[in-house]
Amino acid sequence: MNNRVRKAVFPAGGLGTRFLPATKVIPKEMLALVDKPIIQYGVEEAIASGIEHIIIVTGRGKGAMEDHFDHSFELDATLERRGKTELLAVSRGVSTLARISYVRQKEPLGLGHAVLCAKDIVGNEPFAVILPDDVIDADPPCLKQMLDVFNERGGSVLATMTIEGPGISAYGVLAGSQDSENPRVYNCTGMVEKPKFENAPSKQAIIGRYVLTPRVFELLEQTKPGAGGEIQLTDGILALAKEQKVFGYTFEGKRFDAGDKFGMLQATVEFALKRPEFADKFREYLKGLAL
Ligand code: G1P
Repeated sequence: MNNRVRKAVFPAGGLGTRFLPATKVIPKEMLALVDKPIIQYGVEEAIASGIEHIIIVTGRGKGAMEDHFDHSFELDATLERRGKTELLAVSRGVSTLARISYVRQKEPLGLGHAVLCAKDIVGNEPFAVILPDDVIDADPPCLKQMLDVFNERGGSVLATMTIEGPGISAYGVLAGSQDSENPRVYNCTGMVEKPKFENAPSKQAIIGRYVLTPRVFELLEQTKPGAGGEIQLTDGILALAKEQKVFGYTFEGKRFDAGDKFGMLQATVEFALKRPEFADKFREYLKGLAL
């Protein structure tokens, strides 16, 4: 088995019902956060973390993603003719960002099933999973932090964050104990997908970044539908944790759920305030609102 993590799987076949009506025709992964589709943040994070090959698991009506990361001949030719060199660099930059393969999830059978669709392209090597809805502002990038833990500890790593209160029921929740050497690391003994608040085994919610060993594919093949009647990634990783080491890792950084309307609003404000071209102007505008 090759032990270097070179590939990242992006499950992007979901319907995006939480963002209707915007996502009736437009894939939710293509919704713009400031000026970039949310999936591009994840792809840039993967590349900045050393990933060489992106695998996007798509579905019906998701063709805009493929067009986005492809060359746009007409656009580029027009920008070139008009001498718009900066915009041309932006457009070309997207199409040369990464080596990307696409695989189609034909039926929406769940996140675990979506990851399984990438099995043949990933092969027998460890890989990352990035859920594009989860946009994470972090330096170093969240996935890079996790790869450091993976390389040091040699076991699968799940990103986690502490969630107080009943909101934890929207997540996969980790069971385990904090590591004695590194308080950001949890030695995982179990996990439950979307438990009731009173049954949550901890306050550690699993966030959409995973570094997994390829054994998880075989286990996902045997995973029966779980929460919501779907084949859950959490259940596949639970089976993995019974055989191999699995760690939770409380990443340093801030996560936004950009697949949710309120999360997208929060991300929009915070990412806009970080953009040098209009941070000052936007801050002044916000200050001027009678809140
Ligand atoms: C998925 C996973 C869940 C995880 C969450 C993070 O759920 O199944 O374990 O906590 O992503 O965003 P979803 O949000 O797709 O329902």
